Order: sequence, then C-alpha cells, then structure tokens
Amino acid sequence: MSTPSSSIESVLVENRVFEPSAATVASARISGMPAYEALCAEAAKDPQAFWARLARENLGWHKPFTQVLDDSQKPFYKWFADGQINASWNCLDRHIGTPVENKTAIVFEADDGAVTRVTYKELLARVSQFANTLKAMGVQQGDRVVIYMPMTIEGVVAMQACARIGATHSVVFGGFSAKALQERIQDAGAVAVITANYQMRGGKELPLKAIVDEGIAMGGCESIKKVIVFQRTPTACNMVAGRDVLWHEAIAGQSTECAPTFVGAEHPLFVLYTSGSTGKPKGVQHSTGGYLLWARLTMLWTFDLKPEDVFWCTADIGWITGHTYVAYGPLAAGATQVVFEGVPTYPNAGRFWQMIEKHKVTIFYTAPTAIRSLIKAAEGDEKVHPKNWNLDSLRLLGSVGEPINPEAWMWYHRHVGHERCPIVDTFWQTETGGHMITPLPGATPLVPGSCTLPLPGIEAAIVDEQGNDVPNGSGGILVVKKPWPSMIRTIWGDPERFKKSYFPEELKGYYLAGDGAVRSADRGYFRITGRIDDVLNVSGHRMGTMEIESALVAKTDLVAEAAVVGRPDDLTGEAIVAFVVLKRARPTGDEAKALAKELRDWVGKEIGPIAKPKDIRFGDNLPKTRSGKIMRRLLRAIAKGEAITQDVSTLENPAILEQLAQNN
Ligand code: WTA
Repeated sequence: MSTPSSSIESVLVENRVFEPSAATVASARISGMPAYEALCAEAAKDPQAFWARLARENLGWHKPFTQVLDDSQKPFYKWFADGQINASWNCLDRHIGTPVENKTAIVFEADDGAVTRVTYKELLARVSQFANTLKAMGVQQGDRVVIYMPMTIEGVVAMQACARIGATHSVVFGGFSAKALQERIQDAGAVAVITANYQMRGGKELPLKAIVDEGIAMGGCESIKKVIVFQRTPTACNMVAGRDVLWHEAIAGQSTECAPTFVGAEHPLFVLYTSGSTGKPKGVQHSTGGYLLWARLTMLWTFDLKPEDVFWCTADIGWITGHTYVAYGPLAAGATQVVFEGVPTYPNAGRFWQMIEKHKVTIFYTAPTAIRSLIKAAEGDEKVHPKNWNLDSLRLLGSVGEPINPEAWMWYHRHVGHERCPIVDTFWQTETGGHMITPLPGATPLVPGSCTLPLPGIEAAIVDEQGNDVPNGSGGILVVKKPWPSMIRTIWGDPERFKKSYFPEELKGYYLAGDGAVRSADRGYFRITGRIDDVLNVSGHRMGTMEIESALVAKTDLVAEAAVVGRPDDLTGEAIVAFVVLKRARPTGDEAKALAKELRDWVGKEIGPIAKPKDIRFGDNLPKTRSGKIMRRLLRAIAKGEAITQDVSTLENPAILEQLAQNN
C-alpha cells in the first residue's frame, strides 16, 4: 500500500486514500478498477447472462439449469430453479482427483492450542460417514436439523453432512440460552439436534448438552426424535435412552462413502435465525444454488483467494459469517482454512497474532469489536501487542459485522497489516448470504471506515422514504434495486413477514437492508451509518430491542414495563441500555444494584449472555406521548447522557426525564 495522500484524523471527514500497490493489482483476479468496471458493465447490460455465466463457471451442476431468474412471484425470486445441485459435492467431491484432494482443508486449533489437520479427502470421508449416520437415524431430505455445536471440525462436518443428504440445517450459536434454542427448534420443526457434551472456551468447560435437555424439556419440541452428542471433553453428560446417541458410537460401522442427494437449486440449504424489529427472531431461509455461487465467488473476488493461501475467518459457525466464510465458501473454493475453537483473549490477548504466526495465515478476517478489544489490550500490556509476533505471512485483512471506525482501521492497517495489506471492509447481512459492498484488494482505493463500492451485479443504492435516489453526500436508506442469487428466499414459515420486512410497498420493490448509509461526494463510496430499525449491533451481534424488552417483561413477578435502546460504545460499537418500570416502588442504591443484576442474569437466561443490558435504569414510568407511545428518541438521548434539547411538548409526563437521567 502506498502512503496516505492526506491525513485528517477526523471520524466524520475521512479523506485518506490508500491505493492498492502495483504488485497487488498485477497479481489480482480482478485487476484494477477498469476490470471491476467491466464486470459491473457486463452485469448491467444483461444481468441474467452475467449470473448464468458465473453459475456455470463456478459450480458443478448435476443437471444444468435452463432458467436463470424467475421473477414471476416477486419478491419470492428463484434462481437457476430447474438446475440440480448438491452443496457438499461442490465443497468436497469436486476437488477429488485434483491437486486439492490431498491439500489441508481445515487446520483446527483447539482452545488449549492442540492442532488437528484434515485434508479434503479425509473431510469428504468424515462428512460422508456422518451423512450415512443421519440417514440411518431416519433423517430425510427436507427435514430440519438443529446444530448447537462449538467451533470444531465436527461442527463443519455436521453442516456439510446435512447438505449432503438434502436436510436443511439450522445452526444455533452455542452462546444462546435453552429458551432461545427451544424457540428455534420449535419454529423450524427440527427432527434432530446435533450438539456436544461441553464446549471449551477460555480454559473453561461450558455445558451444551445440558442446555439442549433444558430447552427440549420446556416443551413443544416433540418433533425431535434424536439428539447426537459429540464428546468434546471426557466429562460425562446426561443421556436420554432411546433419544440420545454419542457421535462416535453412532458413526461406528457407517460407510465413509455416501452418494450426495442432488436437490433443486432452490432447495433450502439452511435456515439461520436472526433478529428483526419485533420480539420474534426470523428464520432467514437460503437456497442451495444461488447461495453457494456467492459463497465461492466472493472468496475469489473479495479475498482474491490463491491456491497457497491460508485463510482464517474468526467467526463462529452460529453466525452467517461462519456459514459463508467457514462452512461453505472456503471449501467451495478449495482453500486451506484455520478453524479456531477458543476466544481471542485466552490464554492472553496475543492469541490471534500468535496463531497467525504459527499457521502462517495469509488472509485474516475478523470483526471490528475484536480489533478494538485487542487494541485496548495491546495498549495496556506491551506483551500482547502484535509487534511481538511475526505477521509477515499476512497479505490481506478483512473486517465484518459492524462499521469499523477509522481509528481502529488505521491501527489494524499499521500494526497488523504493516501498511502492506489491503483491508476489505465487507458490508453484508444474514439476509444477503455473502458480501455486498466491499473493496476488491487488487482494484479499489481504500478509505478507512468505508465499505467502498458494491460487488459487480449488486445494485446497491441510497434512497429516500419514497424510494427515490438521493444525491451523493446526503444520507438515506440503503436498498438493493435488483435481485441477486444469494438473497434471502423467505422467512421460514412466515412469507408475509418476509414481504413486509424486506420489500415494503413504498420502496418500489427494492430490497430494504435496514441500514442507513451515505455515499461520499467525490468517489460515491458507501459508508454505513447504522441500523434504521429497532435492531442493535452489539459486538457485531444483531439483537432486536423488542426481543430484549420481551425477555424483561417476561419476568412477570417483577417487571411492569421495559424499553430498550442502544448507546454508542467505544468497545462494543453499541451497548444495550434498558429502562425498567417495576411492579413495586422504584428501587435506589443497593437495592437497585441487586435488582439490576437479577434482571441482567434473567435476560442472559432468556436469550443468552450477549443480550444482557449493560445499563439498567429504573423509573416510576417511561416517557410517553399522550397517546401512550414510548418516546424512544428521548430514551436514546438519556442513555447517551445528553441534555434533552428535543421538543417534549407531546410528552405526558416530562418530570420522568429528570428521574431517568439521574438514575445511574
Ligand atoms: C452491520 C453480519 C458496517 C449492518 C455479516 C448490517 C456492517 C448488520 C458491516 C448485519 C460493515 C455488517 N460495515 N456495518 N462492514 N457488516 N454490518 O446479519 O448493520 O449479523 O445490517 O450479518 O451488521 O448483521 P448480520
């Protein structure tokens, strides 16, 4: 990378520009801006021909498709619908007989540092054996299987095995509570759960199977016939006779060959739950063909993957990033990847840098929240500063999950990338399946804090509330004007909500991302300004304010009313602040502290530790309009500690503001 052309340290006015080096451009698959522009032009001229070409070149089809886009039932778009395909075949079998077959597919590093490697050939055998095991248990094409696993090779095997037999997986992040798990099992109507006895995180053994038992015992999970338990640690766990089986016992005797079940391209590969504006999480349904095309292609475009790369995406398989850039994309592209079980701060905050050195990682992809916490750790303790490790293997860095502030970007660039590695700030969502707006390392000049330009074929735009384009420089609503192959297909079991959430009538049929954005006046670069709905982004984890409010008011013995808002936070991006009215007198002092802790733990049990409010404030009431609507903008101001300068004339009870502001 060349030196910045100017250096204003401001967050708002960012005009440092980092051009890709001549060497990076020369070696890149999409080499230089003219190459990027040529692809965009190809896509604009004839979108169907463009996507058809890419789908033919990038995927192996059991039965070729003849139809590209079917938009006869908008917004329920179909892609490559009459083609037949298998995702696991495309990730594994296709490499057999090529030099990739004996290449390492996964370098697994456990929490304690133990390393296990598996080649593509070995991974195929393990996936096939587990696929046969699922079949033997009666799991059939079209069934849903919930996966509640730690980061392990087996987690990836479980997902790939489902794909192999045409079962739709629904991975639930291992940090979610029994209640959250139960709701997802129920909503998906899953026939089996794949889990582990325990998970190891930061030297601690944490239960998983016990949470599965607790979730199923909450009721409504009668669809579950089998629970398969991977024994991650030697500690025994409760096993229910007739329902539960140990992974290693179940696979014993099963063949390591399993013919893939070819499915229609629109067959749901997975359903992944994510937060929306209402209390109930939505099951985002993805297709097989379109999704896999983008998983592979973005590996080649955004990461410009080379055969010798060692790719490391630090995301958990419980999130979309772990689906696309751990379980599917790297395998579909034939990459060697690192899979890490543990946490970035154990045994110390140098773990990531140590692992990059140890495994000679070339592409490192992580979240701004991790970067910010490691900056803080390095500033507090020289010994965990990345300078203590040899990071020369790195050639490309990535960021995902939330806006990266220019300060964190610059630190990442200097201290991890040594001013040599481009940073791809990838904007996308669970619903988009893969990257949408991102720099290309060998083409796009970088601007810190900006995800720059849409990928070829992605018609991203910023519009006003009527769906009209706004000029560069003014903020608006981020939309995608044309369908693309890896887009969400529907919300599992709730097509009406799908239409309403993503294709509201007033927006001319555009896909509504739910984020605000602005394009720079000079380059037309996108900068994401954050969610415009009631969704929070805490440490890159999506959470609905309503979800947390529902959890709080579910504590019926204590809570009368609750309102949740986000507050900017230096470390976690946003922090959760809850305003609570109790069914008893407003507590103060130690009583308030104790009750706040009780409520925090309660939310941890209802949803998961990631949803615990950072700040809980008690009031006699909440600020409401005369018609009874909670005035959230006022709560947001109070949460930030700002003086209320807004108009409060419609407020029923202005005195409440004072009380909520004081209560810390
Ligand atoms: C936010 C994660 C700014 C955004 C892949 C989006 C980002 C939500 C970026 C989706 C980025 C993700 N810059 N904001 N590079 N990447 N976001 O579904 O608000 O967990 O709508 O998908 O994260 O979160 P999700």
